[in-house]
Amino acid sequence: METRIIKVQAENGKLSAVQETELEWAGSILQQGGLVAFPTETVYGLGGDALNPASSQKIYAAKGRPSDNPLIIHICRFEDIYPIVEFVPEEARKIAEAFWPGPLTMILPKSDKVPYETTGGLETVAIRMPAHPVAEKLIAHSGGYVAAPSANTSGKPSPTVAKYVIEDMDGKIDVIIDGGEVGIGLESTIVDLTVSPPQILRPGYITDAMLTEVLGKVEADVTILRNDSGQAPKAPGMKYRHYAPQGELVIVQGSPEAVAEYINLQAQADRRAGEKVGVICTEELAAVYKADVLKCVGSRLDEEAIAKHLYTFLREFDDEKVTRIYSESFATDGLGQAIMNRLLKAAGHKVVDLDNIL
Ligand code: TXA
Ligand code: MG
Repeated sequence: METRIIKVQAENGKLSAVQETELEWAGSILQQGGLVAFPTETVYGLGGDALNPASSQKIYAAKGRPSDNPLIIHICRFEDIYPIVEFVPEEARKIAEAFWPGPLTMILPKSDKVPYETTGGLETVAIRMPAHPVAEKLIAHSGGYVAAPSANTSGKPSPTVAKYVIEDMDGKIDVIIDGGEVGIGLESTIVDLTVSPPQILRPGYITDAMLTEVLGKVEADVTILRNDSGQAPKAPGMKYRHYAPQGELVIVQGSPEAVAEYINLQAQADRRAGEKVGVICTEELAAVYKADVLKCVGSRLDEEAIAKHLYTFLREFDDEKVTRIYSESFATDGLGQAIMNRLLKAAGHKVVDLDNIL
């Protein structure tokens, strides 16, 4: 299949008339059952008509994703939620008011309109209204319901720039919309509203403190930062070893100086053994590290910058054929919870805790 790649980059959040026409065309491809990758504020999505079972099946095929892993339906107006859910609880209205459009996905009981192909066989449906001008217009022109997982091959880090969408999807889908670099860099927060109190299934830019402020009590899936609970994650997609780079990734925890010293010693031994070593570090200690490929995420205090760069760095290590990666560990509260959740998954939970081995 030939994939058409078009560039639609909004200026100051505004699209030109020509760009609107291109999105209208891309929307018609979705209506005809085709697949279109597009930018959102979190990561790039791989879109298909959410109400068309054949489109959802094509999405799974293009990603190489197990079909029991449900898709998120993207909408562009709150009222579009009504036809696809059984009922709209008060909490849904509250969090939509507070966080939509934005990086927040809610789980609700699905209506008959939503095919099981889209929900991976579940009776519930995940819904999100993205805050990105290209996504919003594309959804509006598609008929209003776009199923979109992240636009990566299953198992790879989610793409934050079109380059990596093209790498994974060229030849497999109809259209790729290059909208430039995304703003956030990690997937949306998922909150399950079918249980009481609501439960966070995947942490993201909308933190548990932000949700607690709006909803009162909120719980978090125990598996978010741990893999020793003996429980399966409630979001089916979170059970897979996602976001994985090709090199072996190890997270090192401890005082910053001890971490740098440990990583440098390991790196030296690895390089002698013929490994190509990459390091993810913060600006504070960047000068201390000796690695083949050093990626600095910015200041330890700037969590938004860490979130934005993480997936790109993991992809770049693959590009540079790095075989061993060490990463500093980050704080686990606020946005740090989402960062560490993804990093731990990328590492398959391989963590060296210097405070406990020395
Ligand atoms: O930011 C995002 O959410 C991005 C952009 C493209 O919008 N999308 C995204 O989709 O991350 P995906 O498919 O890569 O991740 C969706 C996650 C999976 O872990 C899936 O298991 C979970 O949402 N999910 C979807 N429907 C669910 C449901 N009914 N119940 C529980 N988890 C669900
Ligand atoms: Mg994904």
